[in-house]
Amino acid sequence: MLTAEQNELLTRVGRGTPCGDLMRRYWHPIAAVSELDGNKWNKRVRLLGEDLVLYRDKQGRIGLITEACPHRRASLAFGLPTDNGIRCPYHGWAFGHGGECLEQPNEPEKSAFRHKVKTPAYSVEEMGGVFWAYLGPAESKPLLPRLDGFVAEGTVRMLGSAIIPCNWLQIMENSLDPVHTEWLHGHTYEFVKEQKGQSHKVAISAHHEKIAFREFDHGITKHRLLTGQSEDCDDWKVGHPIVFPHILSVGAGDEKFNSRYYAFQIRVPVDDTHTMHLWYTAYVPPKGYKVAAHLLDKVYTYDVPYLDENGDYILDNVDAQDIMAWITQGAIADRTQENLGASDNGIALYRRVLRREIKKVEEGVDPMFTFRDAAKNVRIDLPNEADKHHNSDGARSWIMRIHAAHSPIAEDVCRMYDANKPAPAPLRVVG
Ligand code: FES
Ligand SMILES: [Fe+2]
Repeated sequence: MLTAEQNELLTRVGRGTPCGDLMRRYWHPIAAVSELDGNKWNKRVRLLGEDLVLYRDKQGRIGLITEACPHRRASLAFGLPTDNGIRCPYHGWAFGHGGECLEQPNEPEKSAFRHKVKTPAYSVEEMGGVFWAYLGPAESKPLLPRLDGFVAEGTVRMLGSAIIPCNWLQIMENSLDPVHTEWLHGHTYEFVKEQKGQSHKVAISAHHEKIAFREFDHGITKHRLLTGQSEDCDDWKVGHPIVFPHILSVGAGDEKFNSRYYAFQIRVPVDDTHTMHLWYTAYVPPKGYKVAAHLLDKVYTYDVPYLDENGDYILDNVDAQDIMAWITQGAIADRTQENLGASDNGIALYRRVLRREIKKVEEGVDPMFTFRDAAKNVRIDLPNEADKHHNSDGARSWIMRIHAAHSPIAEDVCRMYDANKPAPAPLRVVG
């Protein structure tokens, strides 16, 4: 249980709030590079409570600037690209990538007024076919961490997204909560199916005998031992990581069986009560499998729905089940009313780490998972299970039960691994 003040401290992400300042020390994924293809040269982005425009100028360079024009607040999203930045649609003021005002076409020719005008503009970098933004102080800007799945070559990549109307922290806490999988994705799912007359048992409903959490350099790994497993299993020995502050890596599979893949769930705070949830998956094609060239060209994007055509929660999809649980906790979960048990140890640990890292930023120290040495940032390999118990229902069964079912290349991915039978198929676990 937290006090109301503690809950505020850990959840608010606006500029000048303690957690907002912490979040501004990290890079956040904001769009797929393929979203700015062809005629589409800009995209509105709301991040950490700030309304921004991501754009490509006429030379192809990417910028990120506050949406409201500093002249009289019209939206730059309806503006024009220039050679060196973006121009407001209303009176033509032009801005550079640093937010400096370059032109005021209707001001007196010799006026120095434009030199007094500046608007917030931020750094954007590209990695893994995704644009990443940094909204913090320029002098504190770290390197964009080169996480394994974003820099692995020759993968088939896709990016699902959903705007979830609740605070980022309750979504993140779900990742420190291993036991929910046996209920929400297991027994609850089986009950929903049973009610539809489609009796359907799934491996993920296996009981957790024990759970554990370990801090490591980049965050926390979580471990589970399910009924019938030996303590030598990957689920217990290796686990998978929560990369601080807001990334879950659930990638798995094994090069040995040609079933390696990387999967990330990233909880990007839009504002205090909305989160952009991203699912980034990079599949390593099985050795010898000829992948169609178009599948390697770009990151395929798709929306992940959580409501059906009647506006009811979708309860037979793993990710939609999670989203139901997160939203029904409230816009910002009221942690003064909760009762944490022994199975919530991971959540308590994550909150302690979050408080500690907030304090570091307040004291002028780099928080964890800050990279400044390029030599240590060539490729960051994360610990992950190769052989996962939850994966034992087969690739197609899993892919079609999660967010990936909505991907335009879901069938291509299933075929890629079906061709690899009888080797163990790659699957991913949400949790
Ligand atoms: S409001 Fe943008 S130039 Fe006037
Ligand atoms: Fe889940």
